[in-house]
Amino acid sequence: MKVAVIGATGMVGEVMLKVLAERNFPLTELLLVASERSVGKKMNFQGKEYTVIGLADAVAAKPNIAIFSAGGDTSLEWAPKFAEVGTTVVDNSSAWRMDPTKKLIVPEINAHELTAQDKIIANPNCSTIQLVMCLHPLHQKYHMKRVIVSTYQSVSGTGVKAVKQLENEVAGVQGEMAYPYPIGRNALPHCDVFLENGYTKEEMKLAREPQKILDDRTFSVSATAVRIPTAGGHSESVNVEFENDFDLNEVRQLLNDMPGVTVQDNPDTNTYPMPIYAHDKDEVFVGRIRRDETQRNTLNMWIVADNLRKGAATNAVQISEYLVEKGLV
Ligand SMILES: NC(=O)c1ccc[n+]([C@@H]2O[C@H](COP(=O)([O-])OP(=O)(O)OC[C@H]3O[C@@H](n4cnc5c(N)ncnc54)[C@H](OP(=O)(O)O)[C@@H]3O)[C@@H](O)[C@H]2O)c1
Repeated sequence: MKVAVIGATGMVGEVMLKVLAERNFPLTELLLVASERSVGKKMNFQGKEYTVIGLADAVAAKPNIAIFSAGGDTSLEWAPKFAEVGTTVVDNSSAWRMDPTKKLIVPEINAHELTAQDKIIANPNCSTIQLVMCLHPLHQKYHMKRVIVSTYQSVSGTGVKAVKQLENEVAGVQGEMAYPYPIGRNALPHCDVFLENGYTKEEMKLAREPQKILDDRTFSVSATAVRIPTAGGHSESVNVEFENDFDLNEVRQLLNDMPGVTVQDNPDTNTYPMPIYAHDKDEVFVGRIRRDETQRNTLNMWIVADNLRKGAATNAVQISEYLVEKGLV
């Protein structure tokens, strides 16, 4: 099993290598790939030294799986080249997510859709993954009509440059800016670029991707995405209106029974999910589960997950594990 990690030197790439090692992914050969800037750089994986190579050399090596975390433009240009030589691409960028010919996969929900013919598989947006992990079991039982989500997103979601901006601000050092404003002691209602409809691209990903993953266009999602100065983990305030009424204990049970979801919900002990505890964990944490008292059949909850783990690397590695287990690569 020859695996290429594209974007190995980046924020997601680094966590990808950690997750592959932790889960003992059954690889026999590993290719670490980045831009021309990093070619020749030495990196370590499970005590062995590797030299970073370029994309053309990686295609020539015909890996079984290539996990891409190197931005949308790199995926658009290079994923088809890997697919042509028989490699299955698992892509972390937004390049292929809404392409009707590509599958958008959260393994706990829809890995069963994958076949050996799927040569480019899309990993959803980080904020989408943690949202659908909690919506899925509730939707099956009560059927959602409308979801309103406000996100509180970590700077690690923007990449290395943004983490550096926050570190510089905290240290009082002038440096390169990833955002148009300071992020320390601030909240930016601006994740990704603005679109013509006044929403950001991140907000539209949250509106569209859940419908594709849950294979249902009968519910709608309205999102506001906000960047805050946390370093590891996205949080979401979520309001869901269902067709059918629910019982709060049953809601907690359904969420608890969902693989990969952990309920942390006890106001008596101040127990609720927070990024500092979700950091470096694979689970999606949910709490503050309560009835919206202003409207029928409506629920409020608070969802937190590590955007670099379940939001990116862990989900991509789980997809790759499924492909190997089912003999699809
Ligand atoms: N951060 C998150 O929470 C998150 C979550 C889900 C998905 N993603 C997606 O994952 C991707 C990477 O995000 P990140 O946060 O890890 O960014 P990052 O820290 O800026 O890392 C970018 C990586 O891509 C490589 N790269 C850039 N241009 C390249 C090119 N032309 N050819 C080959 N490699 C190239 C970089 O290599 P060099 O070091 O050589 O520049 C680096 O390894 C993005 O598509 C992002 O949308 C991120």
